[in-house]
Amino acid sequence: MSSQIDHLLNESRQFPPSPEFVAQTIDDPALYERAAADREGFWGEQARELLHWHKPFTEVLDWTNPPFAKWFGDGELNVAYNCLDRHVEAGIGDRVAIHWEGEPGDSRSITYAELTDEVKRTANVLAGLGVGHGDRVAIYLPMIPEAVISMLAVARLGAIHSVVFGGFSADSLRSRIDDAGAKVVITADGGYRKGKVSALKPAVDQSLADRNGEGEQQTVEHVLVVKRGGNDVDWTEGRDIWWHDVVPAASADHEAQAFPSENPLYILYTSGTTGKPKGILHTSGGYLTQAAYTHKYVFDLHPETDVYWCTADIGWVTGHSYVAYGPLANGATQLMYEGTPETPHPGRWWELIQKYGVTILYTAPTAIRSFMKIGRQVPNEFDLSSLRVLGSVGEPINPEAWMWYREVIGGGKAPIVDTWWQTETGGIMVSPLPGITAAKPGSAQVPLPGISIDVVDEQGKEVESGNGGLLAITKPWPAMLRGVWGDPERFKETYWEKFEEQGFYFAGDGARLDEDGDLWLLGRVDDVMHVSGHRLSTAEIESSLVAHEATAEAAVVGASDETTGQAVVAFVILKESFLAEHTPEGLATQLRGWVGEQIGPIARPRDVYIVGELPKTRSGKIMRRLLRDVAEGREVGDTTTLADTAVMSIISAQVK
Ligand code: WTA
Repeated sequence: MSSQIDHLLNESRQFPPSPEFVAQTIDDPALYERAAADREGFWGEQARELLHWHKPFTEVLDWTNPPFAKWFGDGELNVAYNCLDRHVEAGIGDRVAIHWEGEPGDSRSITYAELTDEVKRTANVLAGLGVGHGDRVAIYLPMIPEAVISMLAVARLGAIHSVVFGGFSADSLRSRIDDAGAKVVITADGGYRKGKVSALKPAVDQSLADRNGEGEQQTVEHVLVVKRGGNDVDWTEGRDIWWHDVVPAASADHEAQAFPSENPLYILYTSGTTGKPKGILHTSGGYLTQAAYTHKYVFDLHPETDVYWCTADIGWVTGHSYVAYGPLANGATQLMYEGTPETPHPGRWWELIQKYGVTILYTAPTAIRSFMKIGRQVPNEFDLSSLRVLGSVGEPINPEAWMWYREVIGGGKAPIVDTWWQTETGGIMVSPLPGITAAKPGSAQVPLPGISIDVVDEQGKEVESGNGGLLAITKPWPAMLRGVWGDPERFKETYWEKFEEQGFYFAGDGARLDEDGDLWLLGRVDDVMHVSGHRLSTAEIESSLVAHEATAEAAVVGASDETTGQAVVAFVILKESFLAEHTPEGLATQLRGWVGEQIGPIARPRDVYIVGELPKTRSGKIMRRLLRDVAEGREVGDTTTLADTAVMSIISAQVK
């Protein structure tokens, strides 16, 4: 069978940046030219320009032992020094690093000088607890400044952090603590979510309890606890320590030591298709270079005047690269928000943008679609005119949501950057540059200067322009993962075996290159549907469904079908305003016809189910595997990674 994914949807609108935007941008077409002329030289230039090296490197890339890369291998730096001290030394210590807003409305603004002191104190505390070079520290915190402070303090010591998303259960935390062999856990009594305190410390206690089984070694010596929720916690004397008892009292003198560029910086677990989560390993110099470089040019950063806001939780890679490392390395001012978008009212995000004068907003399509579902009257109540760049990440953003984002949030003028990347890539790989690129709704467009990407078939051959295939990264890049923690075989197998001959990295995503050379992401290859001998992408049919005025969100899957092999089955959430006036049956029929007309009979869903929710992971990605179970009438599989485990029984009931 051909590995090509059929291309069905056409989108031809284009939005170049306005002359006013072009007049002020730092984006420069020369970046593409310089990178094309000498890729490694270009990265060397970026690393020197954007970072401080305690010991300068002489070699940019060592790729003699693929897939294990060394970037800037003989150089030495301190990641925390690059995010903190050097800004204070450069005289911008008074600049706000983090405007933090708690869900209940409490707030703190922390300057670079203050943040530097806090990190030094915390580093001294951790060192006192025995944390040193190469040790692992698990961080299980809500979105409070201490999350960023902890990450930087660990990095400062040359130790390795493993941030575990606060919404994960005790079991998930336990397997992550054990896999990494963490010595210290940093947590809080709780954090605010949806108007209530959601407890964290009990999950830590549970994850550390009952270690009498075989091979169940207890590596954790101390638990450092931030008081945030004010709720009661159990206490293990000798092990547990209140943050407020030790950090404020610690010395703010701490000299940052230099560590090799390839010193591990963090492990971040990401769910694999099967079995235990993979600990993606990132190192220091290359990672920080790409985080800073992409944050600067993709968002057209003006650090003196911009107020940047990335809404991702610190527990995801987006929170690592675009809350912690990229913005701080660039000396940016950012907003950090603890809570959920709808608390205490559905306009909370827009209120925050108005309050802080946010200029750059980086968020996920799932959030945008949930705002679309409620309607534009909510954001319309706030002054969003400070926004000048909008970003999207995590999933394909369908043209309809893209246009809504541009018009309703961006006032019809702020450029949108649709950024494609992964936990494994460490930083943005494909994106428009807002001051240069004429943006196309729904397309992530072009690899960034210095990044080499192709769309290829199963054999690794480039597909013809216009066709869909597999996204492959054809040259090593600075922020690339250096391995899977404790499992080099899994690293090779998962990412490098598929195109072993070519030496390409296999991303697992389908993509298409259009006639202009722009990339369109088509969804995970595992989700591709096989209908009457055609390979159809989930993204295109979902896009078409969402383009209908009644639809807020849609997910499609392939379900086995006697005549066509697989049939397209759609699950659709309607906009609130349409629910009252129409019957679900009538709308389902309309939507089948709509897709048929928009992209052709081959894509017309066999079934359209109107549902109230879709199953999503905690980072907002739709779990199509579970919808396939429903569509094929099977018992629904493992739902433990769902944000809301009740969703599947509701959907199953609705479908029946
Ligand atoms: C998907 C998040 C289309 C893709 C940074 C990728 C996207 C996976 C986009 C990685 C985008 C991310 N357009 N798809 N702009 N950005 N993806 O590891 O399938 O949580 O492989 O990293 O998200 O998800 P991860």
